Amino acid sequence: MKSSELHQFYKKSQGERLEIIKQFAELGETDIETLKKTGAMDFGIADRMSENVIGTQQLPLGIAANFIINGKERLLPMSVEEPSIIAAASKIAGIARKTGGFAAEADPPIMIGQIQLLKVKDFAKAKKGILKKKKELLEKANTFDPVLVKSGGGARDIELREVKSRRGKMLVAHLLVDCGDAMGANAVNGMAETIAGDMARIAGGEQRLFIISNLAVHRKARARVVITPQALEESFAGKGTGLGGAEMIERILDVYELAAADRFRAATHNKGIMNAIDAIAVACGQDWRALESGAHSFAAFGREYGPLTKYCKDKKGNLAGEIELPIAVGLVGGAVKTSPVAQVALKILGAKSAEELAMAMACAGLAENLGSLREIAVRGIRHGHMELHAKNIAVIAGAQGKEIDAVAERISKEGNIKVDRAKEILEETREGK
Ligand code: MEV
Repeated sequence: MKSSELHQFYKKSQGERLEIIKQFAELGETDIETLKKTGAMDFGIADRMSENVIGTQQLPLGIAANFIINGKERLLPMSVEEPSIIAAASKIAGIARKTGGFAAEADPPIMIGQIQLLKVKDFAKAKKGILKKKKELLEKANTFDPVLVKSGGGARDIELREVKSRRGKMLVAHLLVDCGDAMGANAVNGMAETIAGDMARIAGGEQRLFIISNLAVHRKARARVVITPQALEESFAGKGTGLGGAEMIERILDVYELAAADRFRAATHNKGIMNAIDAIAVACGQDWRALESGAHSFAAFGREYGPLTKYCKDKKGNLAGEIELPIAVGLVGGAVKTSPVAQVALKILGAKSAEELAMAMACAGLAENLGSLREIAVRGIRHGHMELHAKNIAVIAGAQGKEIDAVAERISKEGNIKVDRAKEILEETREGK
């Protein structure tokens, strides 16, 4: 049976790593060739994606390992420039394996298209009129995207809101669209535009804005995980923390409670969550700005800005964590189709629907957050970073195989995490000094 546990993956060559991923995700030779190229996007593609293009920017593409999501082994591709993000998510996913991994779910892919109606005189009459014509309006909206409708998606409902503004009261219609396996911005914008004029006529007003809302409250994903004190303690084995697992859980809860009580901490807490979600988004060609907007606006939706995760201790003394946030992503359209690497990344992740991708992202966000809390609460965030950094420095200095850990350990202990020192130690070890 295939497993997402990748032992000592970082010590392997690129070729060996690719072979493992190829087997796991059943990739083809062309996929591997795409991953091997460091400039996997042709200028022609890049030039069509954006404007005034002069080149392409590259980021590392890595793999977060160890994930079990709803009983399935998953490898999560992540593109990100910050060290420790992939390692932290993989670490927590590894600890969570002992309790079966993550349970996740996602709402149907419903997005909101807003239609702003101005100069409405009689709001009650306008609302009644629009709701009376709802069926016709939805049918007309659907004419914008017959392909989406054919694949089971399309306009589903209309909700009406009165919004007080400095320029007077406005009637705002929310067109709810099932976007299927698309993120849906194009379909939603087009459908909203298609019926905005009709709505304004019915309401006896004037249409102004018609555009998607990134506060995708109908399209949320959720994930849960349980960590035992034993597994937590074991994850620090040999690190000399002097703490038991139960005490580690208490400390994590202390740290979490600050995020729950304080916006300054909640902002950083949520940034850590988005470290992983954005990294998957970038790897898989998703609109990460839309995800950021949705996540942070949801963090302040109907409450003071707060954390997107929750933690508590269950009856057995385990740490139980959960996450809930809007995740609007797609498997079709956008950069997914144009970026060759995004296509391979999606194959590696193995999501068969936009919902599955959203669930994987929610699990990654939760894992990442717990990874940060685990370090912050027990040793301070720099320790984990420095350990990883030391390994990178050892590799840069030329260490191979077992030498990597040995060199990394010494430069960490000496507090001198520099390439020159790593080279000296390497020379000494090789000369048998
Ligand atoms: C750094 O990119 C993210 C963290 O600051 C998140 C956190 O503090 O929870 C480590």
